Amino acid sequence: MNHLIAPSMLASDFGNLKSEINMVNNSDADWFHLDIMDGVFVPNISYGMPIVKTIKKYAQKPLDVHLMIKKPERYIEVFAQHGADILTVHFEACNHLHRTIDAIKMAGMQAGVAINPHTNPMVLSDILIDIDVVCVMSVNPGFGGQSFIQNTYKKIEFLKNLKKDSGSKYLIEVDGGVNLENYEKLINCGANILVAGSSVFNTKDPIQTIKKLKEF
Ligand code: DX5
Ligand code: ZN
Repeated sequence: MNHLIAPSMLASDFGNLKSEINMVNNSDADWFHLDIMDGVFVPNISYGMPIVKTIKKYAQKPLDVHLMIKKPERYIEVFAQHGADILTVHFEACNHLHRTIDAIKMAGMQAGVAINPHTNPMVLSDILIDIDVVCVMSVNPGFGGQSFIQNTYKKIEFLKNLKKDSGSKYLIEVDGGVNLENYEKLINCGANILVAGSSVFNTKDPIQTIKKLKEF
């Protein structure tokens, strides 16, 4: 499959949110990536429902919602009502991950599971068959604009091979520090979805940058 690009709206200009959303609508991007942070699971608070609602109102592409919150099962219904298409929870934030994944699917969304840089992908082996998206964090979650952690390549390759061996169908997403220098290597390793925040929104021509990230 061709890889997907999901610009992270955390890096967008909230003062011009509607035009930032339209930029993504008019670009080659595939999804909107929305980062929800609670100040407990990660040391930062991002934004909540009013912004999600606004993005949904104008977005013409699926919303990929990344929950960096403790006990994310509390909010599954709310995010479904607000129009999330893919809902990703952190492995490290869930006591009953299987139940949470089931609940996300029951609510009509695709289920994603994110793993922190220190987490070995093997912890997901008994549940990979149930997951739609595995999100490999290539920075410590909590902030945009951080440097890419090199160990990520190995984890993506591992997940690509595990997919073949286990007959699972999950897509591999990479999130954090993705840019025009590393995106080709990430795709070669097996990444299917590239999340990109600052490397898109902090450039002079974001549409052109997205086009380049999409070219391979
Ligand atoms: C980090 C978030 C990322 C972040 C990506 O906690 O999950 O989605 O916004 O931003 P960049 O591309 O700037 O690293
Ligand atoms: Zn994210």
